[in-house]
Amino acid sequence: MRRLTFWLILGTAIALIGLWAGCGGGGNSNEILIGEYSAMTGTTATFGQSTHRGLMMAVDECNAAGGVLGKKIRLLTEDTQSKPEEAATAVTKLITRDGVKAVIGEVSSSRSLAAAPICQANGIPMVSNASTNPEVTKKGDYIFRVCYIDPFQGEVMARFAYNTLGIRKAAILKDIKNDYSIGLAQYFEETFVKLGGQVVATQAYSEGDIDFKAQLTALKSAEPEAVIVPGYYTEAALIVKQARELNMTIPFIGGDGWDSAKLVEIGGQAMNNTFFSTAYTADDPDSIVQNFVTKYTSRYNEKPDAFAALGYDAGLILFDAVRRAGSTDGPALRDALKTTRDVRGVTGSITIDADRNARKPIVIIAVVDGKMTYKETIQP
Ligand code: PHE
Repeated sequence: MRRLTFWLILGTAIALIGLWAGCGGGGNSNEILIGEYSAMTGTTATFGQSTHRGLMMAVDECNAAGGVLGKKIRLLTEDTQSKPEEAATAVTKLITRDGVKAVIGEVSSSRSLAAAPICQANGIPMVSNASTNPEVTKKGDYIFRVCYIDPFQGEVMARFAYNTLGIRKAAILKDIKNDYSIGLAQYFEETFVKLGGQVVATQAYSEGDIDFKAQLTALKSAEPEAVIVPGYYTEAALIVKQARELNMTIPFIGGDGWDSAKLVEIGGQAMNNTFFSTAYTADDPDSIVQNFVTKYTSRYNEKPDAFAALGYDAGLILFDAVRRAGSTDGPALRDALKTTRDVRGVTGSITIDADRNARKPIVIIAVVDGKMTYKETIQP
């Protein structure tokens, strides 16, 4: 009995020391520490929560298959609270306190833009899952992403508006505190005007606003045939709802920032006759997508959204790069990420180009009867 107690105490002590060592700089020798900085709380909390779920699936699958380089992946997550300043603090903590070898995040371009210079200065590779603003990866050669970029997305949105919907006069309502929104508005306009279309009015708001009636009234008087709202889903849904109340029945068009189940939860039937572009749809019949949807749904009891799919894919290309690098050394890992070719993710085949961006197809979703409906896929 005495002996058993002795071994129990010794065992617990060893386990605790192991745990303690694992928490400090660099982790223990049997694991690879990867940092995630994500909006787990705040205005865009579903961005971070879904990303984290998708990423955890990639981590657990990787570890179940034996891990990489004979080690297990351990993910450390820091909350950005949906704020750029907190994103900078979060990656600083992950890198200097925890000693992570690479960082995954963020969804929002404004937050990725705040964190990227810190990763770059420390020589720690960063992979954004969903930041589409082109400036993000221009912060340096350690910065990568698994999603497409906004010049391509803006062009697809403009072509869709002009060719598919036959729109000639468009209005824009953008979030002026959001780098993504400002950029996407500009790229849309460039292509739309080149095609022969006209932007008849532009108005602005800031994330967190709840009343858009003044801007909508101003836009309405310019008599556009469609309104482009390159922002995030919470405001986008409120904007469309209030537009319908003002009897604006015209199409509203958005980008990937609209892609959340919350869009139709908030907007309901008002969202009919709206369209948006995104990276992925759970309705894609492809067997890799459906396999992911089944596993995710049984684990989390909800359908995976684009963040979950992109979070999973960010993990996938990072672990693939560690394997090919044969090391977790910053420069080696960066070089391996640069040569990512045809990694089959949930959001399509991922190849990293010379600017460290992924060339990916775009999916168009239409809201019909209050439901998001897959329309078409556009190749890069
Ligand atoms: N693309 C957006 C950005 O760069 C983030 C986003 C992605 C938001 C997907 C919603 C859905 O800021």
